[in-house]
Amino acid sequence: MSDIRFVTENIKWIGTNDRTTELFEALWPLPDGVSYNSFLINDDKITIIDTVKDSEIYNFLNKIQYVIKDNSVDYLIINHMEPDHSGAIKALIKEYPDITIIGNEKTLNYLEQFYGIKENTKQISDGDELSLGKHKLSFHLTPMLHWPETMMTFEKTEKVLFSGDAFGGFGTLEGGIFDDEVNLQFYEEEICRYFTNIVAKYGPMVEKAISKLENLDIKIIAPTHGPVWRSNPKQIISDYYRWGRQETKEGVVIVYGSMYGNTESVVDTITRKLADNKIKNIKVYNISKTDVSYIISDIWKYNGLVLGSCTYNTRLFPPMEYLVAFLENKNIKNRVLGLFGSYSWSGKALKRLKEFQQTTKLELIEPSIEFKSAPTKTDHESCSTMAENLAKKVLK
Ligand code: FEO
Repeated sequence: MSDIRFVTENIKWIGTNDRTTELFEALWPLPDGVSYNSFLINDDKITIIDTVKDSEIYNFLNKIQYVIKDNSVDYLIINHMEPDHSGAIKALIKEYPDITIIGNEKTLNYLEQFYGIKENTKQISDGDELSLGKHKLSFHLTPMLHWPETMMTFEKTEKVLFSGDAFGGFGTLEGGIFDDEVNLQFYEEEICRYFTNIVAKYGPMVEKAISKLENLDIKIIAPTHGPVWRSNPKQIISDYYRWGRQETKEGVVIVYGSMYGNTESVVDTITRKLADNKIKNIKVYNISKTDVSYIISDIWKYNGLVLGSCTYNTRLFPPMEYLVAFLENKNIKNRVLGLFGSYSWSGKALKRLKEFQQTTKLELIEPSIEFKSAPTKTDHESCSTMAENLAKKVLK
């Protein structure tokens, strides 16, 4: 059990690495896997904070037994009920039948809904405290971050915040578990992708949660995925604050859908004009090639967005429809938007993209361009004009 790690002298990481699941939530790619972080506090009352996905039960229970030997687990604190963290609860109860499960009112509702568990539970409210011996826990409800029951648990003696999904990201933990032990650049990208894919819809709730944390003297942040923050926990809080408010930097993401290259052919005209107008951050994505998980993550970073698509079977090209529906659902805002579309006999792509603009209220940059089958010289010129107008708005 060499992979049990000390977060502090009496708090241990007993999480697991999932290198098998291909899609998180059956949606988001996991090329580098994901960790399910669980923590054990060794005190008069032995306490576990969050469990792991059901596929990891065997490994998880072995770790607990290795740490506590013949002792029993007294408490399980549930910060979040999504099954990637609650999947081992039933197995844990079977192994330690006297365990008390602690959560808020909504947690306990979901505990019954998902697993039929009603016995040996203790309901806590926002701000309640629990003594484990030397360690003292306080509970902080952070609803819609990203489920209604989500909460955080703060250990006051060693100043560790167990934050649930918040501040966590994709990627397994290979040996190192702390921010100063790993290639942070990799995890920062994966944390941003996790945020935009999973949490971003609830930006205002992120702000609320962060304001709640202001009075806690946090030394370590221990999320349920990705690295534990001990060298500079303020950094990830500040990143979350920016992402939650959709604060962006200067740059343009262009996403296009094109079956045979005709719609794509205006993209180089647009990028050239953007570069001519001093836009340095330009990212171009072929919607048929890159998963939306990565595209959304980049869109979240920059203040300019250009969407262009062909029409398919009298509708918007399906992969582009998938993207715009996600962006609408995530309440994207604070960006300027350029649009272009194409069709051969029934023009619906630009119409749907304009509906997207009306739903999201992103600032539309004129002109929007629509062409039949292949762009003419005039269409290229219109794209150039749109790119120039967009660049002026993007540069702050
Ligand atoms: Fe890591 Fe919302 O589950």
